[in-house]
Amino acid sequence: AFPKQVRLVEVGPRDGLQNEPEPISTATKLELIARLGAAGIRYIEAASFVSPKWVPQMADHREVMTGLKRIDGVTYAALTPNLKGLEGALECGVEEVAVFGAASEAFSQKNINCSVAESLARFEPVLERAQQAGVRVRGYVSCVLGCPYEGEIAPAKVAEVAKALYEMGCYEVSLGDTIGTGTPLKAKRMIEAVSCDIPMDKLAAHFHDTYGQALANLYAVMEEGIAVVDSSVAGLGGCPYAKGASGNVASEDVVYLLDGLGIETGIDLDKLAAIGTWITQTIGRPNRSKVGVALAAK
Ligand code: HMG
Ligand code: MG
Repeated sequence: AFPKQVRLVEVGPRDGLQNEPEPISTATKLELIARLGAAGIRYIEAASFVSPKWVPQMADHREVMTGLKRIDGVTYAALTPNLKGLEGALECGVEEVAVFGAASEAFSQKNINCSVAESLARFEPVLERAQQAGVRVRGYVSCVLGCPYEGEIAPAKVAEVAKALYEMGCYEVSLGDTIGTGTPLKAKRMIEAVSCDIPMDKLAAHFHDTYGQALANLYAVMEEGIAVVDSSVAGLGGCPYAKGASGNVASEDVVYLLDGLGIETGIDLDKLAAIGTWITQTIGRPNRSKVGVALAAK
């Protein structure tokens, strides 16, 4: 059965922008974050405390985290792959962070320069320190439906890494189809495997739309009970360490789908669509939200 409510995690300012080759000003990022909050988004992944050598676009993480104007009831989160990242985020007053691992060894090496086991060992002190500071930690698993280097990924491997993150103290584990190769049946089987160890309400779906399957995959996993969905406005994005990967499923398309299913989000679709039009014009990208493009043409 479908969940009654679905929580959207807006990853546009982070996942959506991290791969943009031309510098985007901090002011534009802050404006994007402000507009998303004003449209009713209640969770915004705002920045990434990663190495600026690895991901130059996220180099202004401090300015973004300290510059944003908080709206009551909105969570502003940041990625923190290690203690250095976490310390930086804590100095900026972050209230929630995320660590990111992978179900693929090769992707783990390319993305965070260590093995899956090493990454989990690295996350332990991040979780400990975050807990001391009263900061919640979300966990990501990448490549849950395929890897750009290894191809097929076994659902059991996804379940194993997700379980490790959950047991370490991540309050929620987001399952990333990093390269968007998944299809609905595969997505369902993966969720079934992971939910043997982790309650369904502690899982999130983070689907990229490279092959145009993201909405179908979401429909399939929401039928299984998934009630947290990561998406990015205008379908912005791509991962620097997953060549050819396009953006996340577009937030506008997810909200339109949910509205049609009678599932509440509290998000104003017209406002969201206007943000998609504005940000894609501002950074010179095509709007990859079909709903956004349709609404803009009305
Ligand atoms: P490393 O080189 O192995 O780390 O990188 P290191 O500890 O040896 O440090 C090397 C240098 O980086 C040092 O600087 C450190 O100070 C610096 P140097 O002495 O050479 O000047 N450094 C840092 N600087 C800023 N912030 C930090 C930090 N840590 C070290 N936190 C590291 C390891 C993880 C840092 C690196 O590999 C990295 O930054 N990777 C970035 C990966 C990334 O951001 N990928 C995209 C996000 S993940 C994603 O998109 C997938 C997701 O959306 C889900 C999905 O779709 O599947 C989440
Ligand atoms: Mg992603």
